[in-house]
Amino acid sequence: MRVPMIAGNWKMNTTLNEAMELVNEIRQGLGQIDNVDKVICPPFISLAAVKELIRGSSIKLGAQNIYFEEKGAYTGEISPLMLAHLCEFVIIGHSERRLYFNETGGITNKKIQAALKVNLKPILCVGEKLEENEAGRTEEIVTRQLGASLAGLDYPTGLIIAYEPIWAIGTGKAATGTQANETIGLIRHNIVELYNERAGQDVRILYGGSVNADNATEFINQPEIDGALIGGASLKANQFLGIIKQAAEIKNNLSG
Ligand code: PGA
Repeated sequence: MRVPMIAGNWKMNTTLNEAMELVNEIRQGLGQIDNVDKVICPPFISLAAVKELIRGSSIKLGAQNIYFEEKGAYTGEISPLMLAHLCEFVIIGHSERRLYFNETGGITNKKIQAALKVNLKPILCVGEKLEENEAGRTEEIVTRQLGASLAGLDYPTGLIIAYEPIWAIGTGKAATGTQANETIGLIRHNIVELYNERAGQDVRILYGGSVNADNATEFINQPEIDGALIGGASLKANQFLGIIKQAAEIKNNLSG
């Protein structure tokens, strides 16, 4: 069975001190939860300090972005080699990167390849805009995004996909559990088509978009949904911990 994952994307929030405070709060409140993967993705400048603060805990670390070249004259960019020994995961193709930094499917594809080369596990984000959703084009859009991002790649073992409808990100307007489950089922089917049944069973697919401690259960309870990628609510330790505990409880009930 796939282990659920609850991942916090802190985006461009928290100074170094604030990041250290937040991770300490999360660590202290977590207790013993073994059946859920807990991942936090702070800004680059806090990764090294946060890595020290989670040492010996079950919290895992991810980066929010990566550049695809190994090194060189790319002012301001962060290379795979710089991240390789700091974290285990990297978010790739977040809609904010696609929207504000013109990231195309071709770029996400190169970034995934670069991440895999240094054994970073990609959390690939896909999702449609409001007008695409309203025009009934969700399936077409996520299929295209997946195809472009994974073009020419063998199945990346350990791949995580986050389905994040753009209209639900940071808006307080989450999809319903049923809507998200349906699209995530389509994404899983796509992975089977691109690779094989086994890959479809293996890939963890998260829902993201206005998830908080009040609505998380609705998503995590769905059969196709393997957890959540959380923005705003991951900046509040009690919210983030509340979501992790809900995931653990659902998982306990399933296995019990
Ligand atoms: P949100 O962000 O939870 O604040 O909607 C989700 C995301 O962008 O990953």
